[in-house]
Amino acid sequence: MTHGEHSWMADIVLEERPDLLQRIERYRKRYPGRNVEAYIEKVKQDARLEQAKKHLKAQAKEHAPASRASCWAYAESSLQQGRYAEEYLKGNTYPFERMLHYLKTGSQLALYHSDFRVVNLPENSVDWIITDPPYPQKFLPLYRDLALFAQRVLRPGGGLLAMVGQSYLPEIFQLMSVEGLKYNWTLCYLTPGGQSPQLWQRKVNTFWKPILWFTKGENKRWIGDVVKSDVNDNDKTYHFWGQSVSGMTDLLQKVSYMGETILDPFMGGGATGAACLLHRRHFIGIEIEKDVFATAQERLTELQRAL
Ligand SMILES: C[S@@+](CC[C@H](N)C(=O)[O-])C[C@H]1O[C@@H](n2cnc3c(N)ncnc32)[C@H](O)[C@@H]1O
Repeated sequence: MTHGEHSWMADIVLEERPDLLQRIERYRKRYPGRNVEAYIEKVKQDARLEQAKKHLKAQAKEHAPASRASCWAYAESSLQQGRYAEEYLKGNTYPFERMLHYLKTGSQLALYHSDFRVVNLPENSVDWIITDPPYPQKFLPLYRDLALFAQRVLRPGGGLLAMVGQSYLPEIFQLMSVEGLKYNWTLCYLTPGGQSPQLWQRKVNTFWKPILWFTKGENKRWIGDVVKSDVNDNDKTYHFWGQSVSGMTDLLQKVSYMGETILDPFMGGGATGAACLLHRRHFIGIEIEKDVFATAQERLTELQRAL
């Protein structure tokens, strides 16, 4: 799609927009002597964004079957926030295309009771891996396997976000350094509230954990690097090591778009999956333990049905 094909993208003509002229006039009066040119450009940019939001909403509505009313409501409120329109105006149509695809297909949920290392997912098929592997030392070898797996299944430009403990960070960085996967940044995951795990050996009360961000190929997304759960949302209903849906939601919404495919190869009780279903991302979950898998499967299939 090129901008030229879309009359709605024609530039803003101030003379045809008395509302914008009034806004500029108010600014002129309030701040006499200030250079008004920059403000005019801002007013025009706001108007372009509103135009784009309106256009995308109209287009998306056409793709949403009546049977998916709640899905459409989610899409509409996401479009209203402006992130999709901003990308579209920059010529990046990918986020909106993912949204349209989701509106057409509805949610896709694929769950595997397996060791992730033997699940044969297609190469380049996943947008994000968002996961929380086990932290104890004996599990360290899994981190290299995770990196190799990510390198294979992520699409170019996709990302791996792995929550990690701090005790073995130097080893983890070494293990996860594989060809084709590049370390990008560390995000801070805050779990505010009264409870904080105490690490006796290190003499630390911890209120946050690192999320290591690796990319396959070039990353094109800007994100804020602090993620947090709701206060005291230390939800262990579904897993002894479970994360909260509020925290996973914050992470998910920071990095991904509606309709993208998210994989959690250490699914546990399914907090990542629940956040994905609620926020209209496709989800693939893998869990090795039979009972843990059954709990997550029941949780997620019920949630999918309810949505
Ligand atoms: C820290 S827990 C994940 C908790 C999850 N984030 C939640 O909110 O419930 C890690 C999970 O990875 C699973 N696991 C460990 N090794 C695995 C493997 N090789 N393949 C798949 N799952 C594995 C464990 O059984 C455990 O349930």
